[in-house]
Amino acid sequence: MKVKNNVAIDGPAGAGKSTIAKLIAKKLGFIYIDTGSMYRAVTLKALQKNYDFDDHGALARLSSEVKIELFSGAQNDFRIFLDGEDVTEHIRQPEVSRHVSLVAKIPQVRKNMVRQQQIMAQTGGVVMDGRDIGTRVMPDAKYKFFLTASTEERAKRRHLELLQQGYEISLDTIIAEIAERDNIDQNRAVDPLVPAEDAVIIDSTGLTINQVVELIVKHIDECK
Ligand code: DC
Repeated sequence: MKVKNNVAIDGPAGAGKSTIAKLIAKKLGFIYIDTGSMYRAVTLKALQKNYDFDDHGALARLSSEVKIELFSGAQNDFRIFLDGEDVTEHIRQPEVSRHVSLVAKIPQVRKNMVRQQQIMAQTGGVVMDGRDIGTRVMPDAKYKFFLTASTEERAKRRHLELLQQGYEISLDTIIAEIAERDNIDQNRAVDPLVPAEDAVIIDSTGLTINQVVELIVKHIDECK
């Protein structure tokens, strides 16, 4: 599969991937695809239907039954529909964040999501963010970035985001949850969170969003 001009952006939770990926997509005139939202959508459905998160077989079946549709408008105002319902805001609930890595570690769930993501990438001109984009979903992508930042800084960003959305959670709780999620994402058996060998690694600790976007755009321009 040739996805030559695609951009892969991977990294841990709270590294600023989605904000940055959206801005890059806008600058390049590309389509933005948030792959984490797909794992979140399956998790939301499992919570709504009271699934047992240890029942991997049932969760795998659920992931092949649900209909996930992604829309990325001209302003990259990304929206996700789950079985026809707009769940863009619902999938950000702390309850979903708490359970999603348990769903994302199931090999058959990953297979189902990766297949759909590869179909979306086929046309080219996409900026995709996630954990395994440069390693599994688009190993041929021309531009690969791995964004990271200290756990503290990532937790502070998430904390601010959640406060703005009206969720009251302590910073310490978020630090603990992010560390736990990193641990599961980095140590799962299938496609763990690791930088692709040919990815450019960017530590965004202490950098503004715009500084990171500039670094990425500069790199893309230099490689054209
Ligand atoms: O980026 P996010 O926080 O919305 O991701 C939610 C979860 O999904 C997180 O635990 C990592 C997982 N994920 C994944 O395993 N592979 C991806 N391509 C994207 C997300």
